[in-house]
Amino acid sequence: MRSQIAAALCAAALGVIAVSSLAIAQQKTAKSCVEERQTGKAAKRANGNARCGASADRAAGDRPVYSTIKDLMESIIDPSADALWGAAGTVIDKQGAQDLSPKTPEQWLDVRRAAVRIVEGANLLMMPGREAAPAGARSEAPGVELEPPEISALIKKKRKSFDAFARALQALGVEALRASDAKDVPLLDDIGARMEGVCESCHQTFWYPLDQQASTRN
Ligand code: HEC
Repeated sequence: MRSQIAAALCAAALGVIAVSSLAIAQQKTAKSCVEERQTGKAAKRANGNARCGASADRAAGDRPVYSTIKDLMESIIDPSADALWGAAGTVIDKQGAQDLSPKTPEQWLDVRRAAVRIVEGANLLMMPGREAAPAGARSEAPGVELEPPEISALIKKKRKSFDAFARALQALGVEALRASDAKDVPLLDDIGARMEGVCESCHQTFWYPLDQQASTRN
């Protein structure tokens, strides 16, 4: 019995050591990132340094940026918007019209979770120092879409406009949160339509403005 207690205490002590050495390592990492930023070493560092994150050197204060706008779109914004649109819609398939509106409390909770991700994802979009896409990524439709470095430059130049689109998306996320709490499907449908307009407006301004120029020329 005593040896079991001793073993448990020993394991707990090891756990404490492991946790504290992790904390020290994290502190060191954060400190060296800050030092690198201050001494300008960051500029000389190779791109994509995992220790400080791809663009951590340009991040605000102690909030390093590890993901690109493309990552946020793929991982957070797009799947969450799909969940909201799906919850509001009716699809017509081989079996006829299928009502996709949430029925169970768990399904309504999923809508709520998607709304939370839109609300907070918009904050992530507004964080400075985020590149459009990972280094080396290329546009899939050159001549229609801007190349990622051009998108990053445009966002830097028109930061206020970019943030205004993100804020509009966030406001709709807050509305969707309320609609999910009220279990209001027609309202979700209306919010979904307005949200699509915001996605499209930001994309037309920052992602494929060339498309718009081409269509006004034609
Ligand atoms: C504040 C501006 C902004 C808003 C709002 C916005 N996007 Fe984006 N989105 C971008 C930019 C910029 C890109 C291009 C990123 C790149 O490829 O470099 C992009 C790219 C995408 C992509 C392509 C990702 C990939 O794999 O290349 C999808 C999908 C997407 N957005 C979906 C959405 C949806 C859905 C919404 C609305 C719910 C939305 N976006 C709202 C700025 C925005």
